[in-house]
Amino acid sequence: MKIVVVFDSKTGSTEKMAHAIAKGAQNSGAEVTVKRAEKVVNKDLQEADGIIMGSPTYYGQMSGKLKQAIDDSVELHTKLTGKVGAAFTSSGGAASGAETTLLSILQAMLVHGMIIQGNAAGSHYGAAVKGAPQPEDLKVCEELGAKVATLINQLKR
Ligand SMILES: Cc1cc2nc3c(=O)[nH]c(=O)nc-3n(C[C@H](O)[C@H](O)[C@H](O)COP(=O)(O)O)c2cc1C
Repeated sequence: MKIVVVFDSKTGSTEKMAHAIAKGAQNSGAEVTVKRAEKVVNKDLQEADGIIMGSPTYYGQMSGKLKQAIDDSVELHTKLTGKVGAAFTSSGGAASGAETTLLSILQAMLVHGMIIQGNAAGSHYGAAVKGAPQPEDLKVCEELGAKVATLINQLKR
């Protein structure tokens, strides 16, 4: 089971979340690659069973770099159908665009035909952290990685 974690991060908070998500997925048996948005290539996305994308909250949306990676994935349109997706973001404020950022990422994944599992408890749309991630935030990120790995396993069975 392969998962790619794609992120943009300028001051390091989203990057820390990316690595915690990767750890959670690895602990659940996934082979995980972590890539910056500007380094990811379509082959990485095509070969993965799960794609987890994260960005700082920029004006209530994903950053331009992550959007560019998604726009470049148009070459794969229809080929990502059925892959499992999830989103994460780091924001400056508590209620200042994190959820719309998560939803902007999930929206693109749905357009690709990907499968998203919601979360009935806690952060409903993915992992969202205000400022520098604290140990409890990193735990939530690990859980998100584990959840994606579990869903992939269930779908493969
Ligand atoms: C261009 C720009 C736009 C931003 N817009 C928002 C915003 O709309 N809402 C918010 O809460 N924080 C906003 N921030 C703050 C970042 O989301 C926040 O500092 C985040 O933790 C940075 O993540 P990083 O350390 O991974 O780069 C903005 C920062 C920048 C540079």
